[in-house]
Amino acid sequence: MRIRLGVLGAGRLGSAIAKTWHARTRQSPLIWSRSGCCADGQGRVGEGQWVTDWTNLLKAESIVIAIPGHALLKLAGDNEQARQFTGNVFSAAASLASSSLQQLFPRATILCIAPFLIHGVKSIPMLALRPASLPLSRWLQAKAELECFGDIDVVEHEQVFSQIALLGASWPVVVVSAVQAAASAGLQRLEDQSASQVGRRIFLRAIQALLANGAGSHELAGEVATPGGITERGLKSLGDVTTLFESVFQQMQARAEELRA
Ligand SMILES: NC(=O)c1ccc[n+]([C@@H]2O[C@H](COP(=O)([O-])OP(=O)(O)OC[C@H]3O[C@@H](n4cnc5c(N)ncnc54)[C@H](OP(=O)(O)O)[C@@H]3O)[C@@H](O)[C@H]2O)c1
Repeated sequence: MRIRLGVLGAGRLGSAIAKTWHARTRQSPLIWSRSGCCADGQGRVGEGQWVTDWTNLLKAESIVIAIPGHALLKLAGDNEQARQFTGNVFSAAASLASSSLQQLFPRATILCIAPFLIHGVKSIPMLALRPASLPLSRWLQAKAELECFGDIDVVEHEQVFSQIALLGASWPVVVVSAVQAAASAGLQRLEDQSASQVGRRIFLRAIQALLANGAGSHELAGEVATPGGITERGLKSLGDVTTLFESVFQQMQARAEELRA
C-alpha cells in the first residue's frame, strides 16, 4: 500500500504535523519517536501508525524531520537506508543546512521548511526553500505534498530563508509577548479586576482590527493620530523601541547561527 508520509519525532511539531496531515488527507502517517508511542503512558498521536525503528519511515514517499538537527545527524549519519532514500525530505530542523541534509540523504529531494503552528489542526502554513538545482518536475511534486498542510510561501536563497523563517514563527511569538506587556503597562493602575479584563479585551480587539486593516505605522499615524493629540504624543514618546526590537531580533539570529550544524 502506498504510504505518503513519515514523521520523525512526536514532540510539538511532529504531533501537529501528524494530526494536520491526517485531518486534511484522511491518511495515517508513519510516526517514530525516540521514546515511543506510550511515552506519556497514554499513547500519543493517535492519528499515526507507530514504527519502532526510524528507518521504517523511509517506506513513505516523504518524511518530515521534526527532531533537532544534532539528533538527526546522530541517527542518520552513515545510515545506508537514508543514503538510498529517493523520496522527499522536508526538514524543519532549523539548525541543519540543506548541504548537511543532502549528505545524509544524497538521493532524496531535500526541502527546508519553516512551519508555523498557529491554526491547530486546520492547517500548518509554511515557508519552503526551493533548491536552485532541483528539476522543475521534482519541485512541483514535492511542493504539492507540502501544500497538503496549508499555504506555502517559497524563497530560493538559503540566507533569505534563514532570516525570514524567524519572521514566520519565532518572532511573532516574541512580539505578541511584547504586545501583552504593552497591555499590562496600560492597565497598571487599575485595581478593579473586571475593569482590567475589559481593558485588556478592548486593547487586543483594537490591535486585531488595526492589523486586519493592514495599515503600516506611518499610514496609521496619519489616519488615526490627531495632530497635537494623545496618540501623537504616544507615537513620539515611543522613541527607541525599534532599537530594542532590532537588538532582540539580532539575539535570536545569533542563537539560530549557534544552532547551525
Ligand atoms: N514547535 C515548532 O513550532 C517548530 C517550528 C519550526 C521548527 N521546529 C523544529 O522542529 C524540531 C522539533 O521541535 P519541537 O517543538 O517539536 O520540539 P519538542 O516538542 O521538544 O520535541 C522534540 C522531538 O525531538 C525528539 N528528540 C529530541 N532529542 C532527540 C535525540 N537526541 N534523539 C532522537 N530524538 C530526539 C523528541 O523525542 P521524544 O519524543 O522521545 O521526546 C521529540 O520527539 C526542532 O528542530 C525545532 O527547531 C519546531
